[in-house]
Amino acid sequence: MDLMEAIKGRRSVRKYRPDLVSDQALQAVLEAIRWAPSWANTQCCQVIIVKDPSIKSELSKTLSKGNPAVSSMNEAPVVLVLCGTKGISGYYKGQPATEKGDWLMFDTALAMQNLCLAAHGLGLGTVIVGLFDHRKVAEVLEVPQNVEVVAMTPLGVPATTGGSPKRKDISEFVFHEGYRK
Ligand SMILES: Cc1cc2nc3c(=O)[nH]c(=O)nc-3n(C[C@H](O)[C@H](O)[C@H](O)COP(=O)(O)O)c2cc1C
Repeated sequence: MDLMEAIKGRRSVRKYRPDLVSDQALQAVLEAIRWAPSWANTQCCQVIIVKDPSIKSELSKTLSKGNPAVSSMNEAPVVLVLCGTKGISGYYKGQPATEKGDWLMFDTALAMQNLCLAAHGLGLGTVIVGLFDHRKVAEVLEVPQNVEVVAMTPLGVPATTGGSPKRKDISEFVFHEGYRK
């Protein structure tokens, strides 16, 4: 698949078929995460693979009722939970190198985008899920204190794919030679 076609064609998928994801496809998605860029190549991102229906159900309960991805978490055969080890990304000699502090959210997001695009290229769907009780997920998955749960995504064969949400025109978010139009 052409790269721009993949970038523009990827959609958040919230309805999944029960078909299993092959080990080969899962491996390819993990490989895409592996090659994501990270601060000084520190690679703070970690992935928890969840296939057990009872654990997926526990995870889905951490989403607020109104979250449109609640049922996706149970429908998809796999849920991937992306975490970041704290105090590595954006740090130099144990101290934050910038006023932004820990860059783990940024690095994990890059890994997530690689994941989503690779999955799309394989005909699989994803939806980034960020609105949930992170503390509860850490508890369910026994994530240690030094690791932060960032986001999750179901992974599976799309049953239906929604339409393309409208994007801003380029002129709306681009500035030239300073923050001016
Ligand atoms: C950081 C982040 C958090 C998100 N959290 C949720 C979520 O909790 N539930 C959900 O259904 N979609 C969630 N989404 C998906 C967005 O709603 C979706 O990407 C956006 O509407 C654009 O649609 P598209 O992905 O099909 O292009 C999230 C996306 C991002 C980037």
